[in-house]
Amino acid sequence: MPIWQKLQQHQQSLSKRNLSQLFAENPHRTRQLSIEDLGWLFDYSKNLLTPETIQLLVQLAKDCRLEEQINAMFSGEKINTTEQRAVLHVALRNQSKKTMSSNDDTVLQKVQTTLVRMRLLTEQLRAQKWLGVNKKPIRNIVNLGIGGSNLGPKLVVEALEHCVDDDLSFYFVSSLDATALQPLFNKIDPTETLFIVVSKSFGTEETLQNALAAKAWLQNHSSAGANFDQHFLAITANQAAATEWGIKHIFPFWDWVGGRFSLCSAVGLSVAIAIGFEKFLEILAGFHQVDEHFRQTAFDKNIPVLLGLIGVWYTNFWQAETQAVLAYQHGLRSLVPYLQQLDMESCGKSVDKTGQRISYNSGPIVFGGTGTDGQHAFFQLLHQGTRLVPCDFIGFTQPIYKIEDHHQRLMSHFIAQQQALAFGKTEQQLKQEGVEPKLCPFRMFEGNKPSSCLLTSKLTPRTLGQLIAFYEHKIFTEGVIWNINVFDQWGVELGKQLAKEMYHLLQQPHNSKIDTSSAAQIRFYAQNLKN
Ligand code: F6P
Repeated sequence: MPIWQKLQQHQQSLSKRNLSQLFAENPHRTRQLSIEDLGWLFDYSKNLLTPETIQLLVQLAKDCRLEEQINAMFSGEKINTTEQRAVLHVALRNQSKKTMSSNDDTVLQKVQTTLVRMRLLTEQLRAQKWLGVNKKPIRNIVNLGIGGSNLGPKLVVEALEHCVDDDLSFYFVSSLDATALQPLFNKIDPTETLFIVVSKSFGTEETLQNALAAKAWLQNHSSAGANFDQHFLAITANQAAATEWGIKHIFPFWDWVGGRFSLCSAVGLSVAIAIGFEKFLEILAGFHQVDEHFRQTAFDKNIPVLLGLIGVWYTNFWQAETQAVLAYQHGLRSLVPYLQQLDMESCGKSVDKTGQRISYNSGPIVFGGTGTDGQHAFFQLLHQGTRLVPCDFIGFTQPIYKIEDHHQRLMSHFIAQQQALAFGKTEQQLKQEGVEPKLCPFRMFEGNKPSSCLLTSKLTPRTLGQLIAFYEHKIFTEGVIWNINVFDQWGVELGKQLAKEMYHLLQQPHNSKIDTSSAAQIRFYAQNLKN
């Protein structure tokens, strides 16, 4: 594309200047390269770009027909072409019902009916009216699911812990490692426990094995097994399989909701139970606000579009391999695993929508963590390493809990780190501080390390919904530019298939035509089964 070449030339000339120069040259830089909308400040002025870059990137988005593709998603076209599915997670949070086309009525109706059922169950559980065996109220909610059936609810219940009902405890079990389950069985009372089996396919090994173990535990360790229906729920798009498995209370979701985009469906049931239905609706409202912003706002003022375009800028024009996400909020400790699935399962593709191998890089490696913990671990590499790592800093002006001046200190680091990355410290500054000349190379900070800042007032159900939606639509934008299908995940299949064969080999090692490395591991496994 001509615009691609223009961007390459523009990058060449821009790479000769650094952020200190760019800030010195243009006193209006931050005003021009930041947005205040929906209660957020999105400051992207500490990125390796200028207003001209944004114009070119916006042109790229237009040339790639981003607007048309956004409309295609919102109107329920089957944009997940490899699975022939519509992609309508935006319908899950469309309480205003204004913007869907009329043929989506059944979609919205299904969403609404499920929300009504979720509200009822949530209220019963929170009022201790959903009783288990022996008429005991439920106190423990255990979410059994993996990937998108775990990471979203886990992130949100942790992040909004300050809103969670004290009478209820929440647990999230995803792994096949029994270490995740057994200590929980040792700790909780089966007669007071509700298992929510979350699986879109109802065919995921990890989840079904954990569900089987939970069922056996209920039956063997209490009379709860006799009242099984009150202790097990399913959330799935495969209701037939859940029914056959023996679960009576089933909440649906649909093939037009991808697993990693499913938080606003019944997959978020544990969240609704934890924080109450009204607050769950607030999360949906936050998502919906960003959906509308994404759909309606000009690209150069559109937060998720700009996040996506900046992602493309670094990946394809600066050859960045990674993306760091740094959330200055303890509650967001599961944000990075969530975004890893959202971004890497969506954008980890090497063929375009027609099946042709792409000749450019697609999704980055996403990593990160919470501030300030990361500062005492991997930030060294961000500041003085050899790689270009674009960073997203996420922060809040108000604390959740106020202890002395903790929050002001935390946020000082939030701003200072972006400043240190961008502007660094020169040899001259070090010498003025009296640093020995021979130590200067080690103590110098090159600067010119890019970052974006997403800052809002407080971590609330609404702002959390907004934040997640920013990243959902960022990924959509990138997928359009890269011309990849961000809604399938065929890359997870081979490992699952091979594991089935491996299971038999581990049980009964025999000569088969497998590679020597795997054979050696199987042999070692068999020889060391006992202490
Ligand atoms: O294997 C990957 C994956 O399909 C994810 O996309 C999904 O979120 C996860 O497994 C769980 O799938 P399910 O909800 O069908 O159990």
